[in-house]
Amino acid sequence: MIKQPWILKRASEELDIVVGRDRLVQESDLKDLNYVKACARESFRLHPVSPFNVPHVSTEDATVGGYFIPKGSHVLLSRPGLGHNPRIWKEPLRFKPERHLNSDGSEVVLTDSKLRMLSFSTGMRGCAGVLLGSTMTTMLLARLIHGFTWNAPPDVPIDLTESESNLLLAKPLPALAKLQLSEHVYQQLGN
Ligand code: HEM
Repeated sequence: MIKQPWILKRASEELDIVVGRDRLVQESDLKDLNYVKACARESFRLHPVSPFNVPHVSTEDATVGGYFIPKGSHVLLSRPGLGHNPRIWKEPLRFKPERHLNSDGSEVVLTDSKLRMLSFSTGMRGCAGVLLGSTMTTMLLARLIHGFTWNAPPDVPIDLTESESNLLLAKPLPALAKLQLSEHVYQQLGN
């Protein structure tokens, strides 16, 4: 059996401190789960689900980041282009959630208003569901890490090769999840 990597271990430790083992993660816990949110944010940066943002047409001449964009241009933002940019991100292809932790300990958010990566985008046509989208993403990840231990099934190699035709894995990644909290905690889900 392969040992859980230290990123998962660190996220589990955060959950043990904030939530404990005797109940499920609740919405009120999410503000304290900065490392879990940093993992979600790092996934948005490194592994976007689609290559481009929806196209926008510029309504006036603009100069952005030294580039002149004439009125009427069709603007397509590349998600991997932003998230993997080595001028912005150190070791851009490494999954390093710590890069998103704020040095003053303030809350990590999944948005990036400076567009150094594209999660919910920004501006007048930015995502209208930022709060719900952030809450659902964090809650899902937190409950998956908190509620189960994760390992590769015995004798199944871990193959993280990317597909050549899209941004997903070339092959599905089988994972073995085992309950890790007391039985009564899972029973709350049925109520
Ligand atoms: C993880 C979850 C989500 C992500 C990553 C996400 C991301 C985005 C992105 C990138 C855009 C395009 C912004 C642009 O054009 O610049 C968008 C638009 C939008 N999103 Fe989301 N979204 C999420 C969840 C949601 C949810 C839960 C809702 C509503 C309940 C929502 C409602 C909308 C709407 C209405 C727009 C169109 C805004 C406009 O064109 O004015 N999204 N979203």
